[in-house]
Amino acid sequence: MKLSLNTVMLALAVGANAFTGAVHWSMTNVPSTGLMDITFPMAILEADHISGYYFAQQFDFTDPSAFGYTGLQPRPDRNGSTVLHAAFSSFTNGTTSTDANCHNGADGGPGVSCSVEWNGVYGRTYNLEVAYEPSSKNWVGSVIDTVTGQRVHMGSYKLPSGVGGIASSEVGFIEWYPWNVRVPPNHCAKLPYQKTHLIMGG
Ligand SMILES: *[C@@H]1O[C@H](CO)[C@@H](O)[C@H](O)[C@H]1NC(C)=O
Ligand SMILES: *[C@@H]1O[C@H](CO)[C@@H](O)[C@H](O)[C@H]1NC(C)=O
Repeated sequence: MKLSLNTVMLALAVGANAFTGAVHWSMTNVPSTGLMDITFPMAILEADHISGYYFAQQFDFTDPSAFGYTGLQPRPDRNGSTVLHAAFSSFTNGTTSTDANCHNGADGGPGVSCSVEWNGVYGRTYNLEVAYEPSSKNWVGSVIDTVTGQRVHMGSYKLPSGVGGIASSEVGFIEWYPWNVRVPPNHCAKLPYQKTHLIMGG
């Protein structure tokens, strides 16, 4: 299922920790068993080409303790080409993966983290798709280029049995993640410029 379009421009709010801004999303007519796929369109309109920002959407599964994130992060250019990093994670204890893009653990806790880097383009809308694949019983994260149609595989994981589909609402957020390790000091004054489009709706 694709989110209908309400365009939300995230302005940067100054926070006391790594969390810098949030935007709520919700969908109607979601069955009690949850959604078996969801798509979050996202464009990083402008940002410094450095590591540090995470533009993310959180999604919950119908089991209240099960959730994950997917999102985009800028990276330094390589060989004159822009590079984006896409992340797809599960913060659910008991998640497993055999995907080469994934490893165990999520932010130091239980779960699985998957990521990929490719020559992504600033200003272009990417559809971040999280979809259940019945044949493998995996949840698969993909980035789809809305201009070329290219599909970039972020990763895949299996949730513990009994966890249902994706629930109807959550929040997206912007994080300047070096703050998690208190870098740099006096960080609010040093936050790099960014402008991001998260397109979402209900
Ligand atoms: C960068 O370009 C050089 C020369 O074309 C090539 O040999 C090298 O593999 C490239 N590096 C990356 C990371 O793409
Ligand atoms: C994760 O699940 C395992 C097995 O059920 C359990 O032993 C462990 O304590 C759990 N870890 C956390 C952080 O909940």
